[in-house]
Amino acid sequence: MNERLELRPFIYATDDQSNFWIEECSLKTILRKASTPLYVTSLNAFEQRVRTYRAALSRHFPSSRVYYALKANWGEPLIQSVVALGEGFDIVSQGELRHLLRQGVRPESICYAGVGKTPAEIREALEVGVGILNVEHLHELHMALEIMLEMPSQTRIAVRLNPCLDVATHPHLRTGALDSKFGLLAEQILNYVREAREFLSQPAAGPQKRPLRSALSGLHVHVGSQLHERTLFAEIVGAVTSLARELLGEDILISHLDFGGGLGVGPEGVCHKGLDIQRHVDGLAQALLAKVESEPRLAEVWGPDLSACEICLEPGRSIVASSTIFVSQVLYTKVNGPKHRFAYTDAGMNDFPRPSLYGAQHAVCVALRNQHPTDQPSSPHIHGSLLCPEVEGGPGLQIVGPVCESGDVLSRDPEIPTSIRRGDHLVFFESGAYCRSMASTYNLRTLPSTLFVRGQTLIL
Ligand code: LLP
Repeated sequence: MNERLELRPFIYATDDQSNFWIEECSLKTILRKASTPLYVTSLNAFEQRVRTYRAALSRHFPSSRVYYALKANWGEPLIQSVVALGEGFDIVSQGELRHLLRQGVRPESICYAGVGKTPAEIREALEVGVGILNVEHLHELHMALEIMLEMPSQTRIAVRLNPCLDVATHPHLRTGALDSKFGLLAEQILNYVREAREFLSQPAAGPQKRPLRSALSGLHVHVGSQLHERTLFAEIVGAVTSLARELLGEDILISHLDFGGGLGVGPEGVCHKGLDIQRHVDGLAQALLAKVESEPRLAEVWGPDLSACEICLEPGRSIVASSTIFVSQVLYTKVNGPKHRFAYTDAGMNDFPRPSLYGAQHAVCVALRNQHPTDQPSSPHIHGSLLCPEVEGGPGLQIVGPVCESGDVLSRDPEIPTSIRRGDHLVFFESGAYCRSMASTYNLRTLPSTLFVRGQTLIL
């Protein structure tokens, strides 16, 4: 009997590629119930990462909140897990808001961000009473406050700060530099609160008649995604606390700080035991507590341990990426001379879009080996290797899909220990974040199936 190796938390394989498991469900069993291309998610792996964020935050901060970034993956069982674990959701559209409300999610547990919300979306968010509305534009801020003058709402408003920080990641994933469409510069926010002083003194609708300015109680910052910089928080925290201090001078008390998401996941997958998350949160805590210590005014209103300031994070990828595999089957292979080898799979860029969109490299392996490689649906006089030769991994191999685009490449030069045969099943790792959620029906192809596993139970 071959030994079962753990490849990722809750994902296992035998080293001879004869079997593969997600939790206690074997891929062979799954493939009897659903066909490729498909996504399979381990709910225990997902929940383990949510719990790690919770534990890491609770260790440092008396008051904290995890808002799982729904855009990464909005699978319904994942939503139920987040609810059961008592955490919240970061959303960016009316569609995501309605999706959550349909699943019975409490609006107070929702933090609604996103650039370019329409007036109708803002009104709906305030009407249903989302917990936090993150605004990215002065006009948006003003509109939300105007609505609060006439309509009682418990929603807290946070302004997204652009800290003008360039970070090392794919250009499409940077969101906090001066050339970025996201957020507001500190001076833009301060100019507004200074000029709108009178407007902000008016009582908000509702029995308490609190001044409108008290609705503006949070700062939000998110400088990018797929980040690996350890020193990131030092600069972010500096920009956020200095704005909070300036706002305090304008009689605006910030009582929640949201540091967004962004923790990256490398090709080797997430750290077992969640060390990456712990280090990330430790880095935030260290920078923030040190800063508050050096800012007497902030220490006074927040408490030196930040007990009067809620600390929030909005992680997506680092929670869900490694909980999920993407499975496809090799339809054909071809060799164009020694340097160019192809494996054609039944999955295309529409099903698994990150490689074509961002040049992302997801680790890939042969999960279930075709044990009869020479079987061909053709004349017995023609040898199978003429039609579909086995192809080696490494430089020169492209795993491609059936979409009519040259960019339809799922993996370039992947290091695969074994050769690839027609009929093999390939597994792509770290496929839980921004893969199924960005899949499309381009070429009028059908969307891939999504399955969830808990223990021996398969949820179709
Ligand atoms: N908060 C805000 C405001 C965001 O814009 C994002 C991601 C997150 C939180 C979650 O970030 P995470 O922890 O997942 O890095 N489609 C791209 C990723 C786009 C990220 C968009 N914003 C990809 O496939 O890499």
